[in-house]
Amino acid sequence: MSPDPSELTFHKIQEQHRRLADLLKRIETLLERRSGPPQEVVQLLGQLGDQLVKHFETEETGGYFTEALLHAPQLVARANALMLQHPKMTQRSRELGGAADPETSPEAWWEQTRERFAAFRAELHEHERAEDGLIQEVYMRDIGSHD
Ligand SMILES: [Fe+2]
Ligand SMILES: [Fe+2]
Repeated sequence: MSPDPSELTFHKIQEQHRRLADLLKRIETLLERRSGPPQEVVQLLGQLGDQLVKHFETEETGGYFTEALLHAPQLVARANALMLQHPKMTQRSRELGGAADPETSPEAWWEQTRERFAAFRAELHEHERAEDGLIQEVYMRDIGSHD
């Protein structure tokens, strides 16, 4: 039997989670080193924003927010609460590289960017952790319902 579309979406979402985690790690490493051209970090932060937009889209259009939840309607409120966090996180990710104003000294820039990034990363981590838990639950219930 071929995998159903919602199962494929779960795998896609989890793959995107892994790719996001890799990118976050790369950015964190550069920020901790505090050397090299700031543009490199700014460019990766831009990439992070783009990846997040695509990721949120995947989750909102084909993921656990729609058909999968038909199988687990009791989880809809949790899914909606998570989805509501997306626009704010998108906006914050876009602001991450914005500390690079010409008046800012390089030391202050690294410090500010590092702090903003750490706060953002913690927020995203919490969001994704809650999401992974939800995905597991939806998926398990769905499997269970076909036994
Ligand atoms: Fe999400
Ligand atoms: Fe996610």
